Order: sequence, then structure tokens, then C-alpha cells
Amino acid sequence: MLVIAMDGPSGSGKSSVSKGVARALGLRYLDTGAMYRAVTWWMLRQGVPVDDPAAVAARAGEPVLSVGTDPDAPTISVDDTDVARPIRTDEVTGAVSAVAAVPEVRRRLVALQQQIIGAGGIVVEGRDIGTVVAPDAAVKIYLTASAEARAQRRSKELTGASVAATQADLARRDHHDSTRKVDPLARAVDAVEVDTTSLTLPEVITEVVRIAKG
Ligand code: ADP
Ligand code: CDP
Repeated sequence: MLVIAMDGPSGSGKSSVSKGVARALGLRYLDTGAMYRAVTWWMLRQGVPVDDPAAVAARAGEPVLSVGTDPDAPTISVDDTDVARPIRTDEVTGAVSAVAAVPEVRRRLVALQQQIIGAGGIVVEGRDIGTVVAPDAAVKIYLTASAEARAQRRSKELTGASVAATQADLARRDHHDSTRKVDPLARAVDAVEVDTTSLTLPEVITEVVRIAKG
């Protein structure tokens, strides 16, 4: 069954495009970024110092995640607490790249992601899907957009955040995500790059569906 791997930096449109493509093709949808955010939320709540990789690694096996893959109503909970909203706070956004760089965290989440993907029929979005999580995916997309466009989109979602501050935060996270030692954000050699800077969301969805249908 079909697996579509969707990678790219923050604000390139992965979540919106993946959900739209999943709906259009009748597939499930998995947001792997939400899983890293959920583990980060749990670490912060437990008082684990998130910039201490050894401390994070020591607790990486504890949080139990459950994830729903309906593109119309994706869900995520940790130890039976619904965390869909709290994982989007600035506190979690500020800490997630450090937690996601810890190999023990990645090993556990990649295994869980591969279990959810199972026999396929799913669009999976993240940073390492085409390279690590689903290297055999039939369709691999790498979404890009200019730093300005990505910051503008993100700051529109976050009321009160200036474009300049948002762009600085995205740049910091992209740098962290693409220079870490394990599973860095990278374009798979066989991924098709789609630059979304001057495309509307429906145009990007149509283009990815066209690529997926070969
Ligand atoms: P990512 O998952 O890559 O961080 P999102 O899908 O969350 O990106 O997109 C960030 C914001 O940008 C959302 O508000 C979304 O509606 C908007 N957006 C995504 N793609 C486009 C596009 N091609 N044109 C305009 N806005 C877009
Ligand atoms: O939506 P946004 O682009 O802001 O981020 P996200 O997709 O929710 O991902 C949050 C963070 O999780 C990223 O900045 C990465 O540090 C990490 N991540 C990762 O390391 N690997 C993935 N497959 C997905 C996310």
C-alpha cells in the first residue's frame, strides 16, 4: 500500500499539504513532528532539563504515546492525556529541537512511526521520513519555500508574533534540525522537490497528488 513521505523545513506547508493529499487520496495521515513535541511536553512537565542530552536519554523510554491518523481529526496523547493543544506552545516549540536531537528519543519514535505506517496507505510528514523512517516509500516529496514566506505563514497563525521574530525562531530550529548528528533534516536523493513559495495551498496539493499518481 502507498506510502507518501513528506519532508521539509518548518512552515514549508507539510502539515496542511499532507492532510489535503491524504483526504484527496483516501489515505491516513501521520504528523511525526507532533510526536517529538509530545515527548518534549512530557519531559518539560516531568522537570527533565531538556538541554541535558543524558538526562533526556535516561527518561526517553517512559512516555507512552498514542496517535490517531484520521486526516480530518488527527489526535495525540501521552499517558492518556490529550496533548494536541499544549504541544503547540512556545515553551515546547523552543525545546523540541534539543529533545529531537537525542538518539534514544529518535530510536523509540522512529520504531513507533514504522509500526503506525504498517502496511501503508498513509501520508507521513517530518524531517527524516524519506531518508530514515520510510526509505522505501513509493513517493517522496521535499517541500521548500523561502525563509520569508515560511515566517510570514507561521506568524499569521501565531497572533502577536512578529514576522522577524518568527523568522529568527525558524532559522534557529532549521539550523539545529539540519546540523544534528542523528537523522538530520535532509532531502532524500530520490525525493521530488516542490517549491511552494509562490503557490497556493490547493495548488501544492494538486501538484503532489499529480506526482503521487505518477
Ligand atoms: P509545516 O507543517 O511545514 O510547518 P504548515 O502546513 O503548518 O507547515 O503551514 C504553515 C502555515 O502556512 C499554515 O497556516 C498553512 O495554512 C500555511 N500554508 C501552507 N502552505 C501554504 C501555501 N502554499 N501558500 C500559503 N500558505 C500556506
Ligand atoms: O510544524 P513545525 O514545522 O513547526 O514543526 P514540527 O513538524 O511540529 O516539528 C517539530 C520539531 O520536531 C522539528 O523542529 C524537529 O526538531 C523535530 N522533528 C524531527 O526531528 N523529526 C521529524 N521527523 C519530525 C520533527
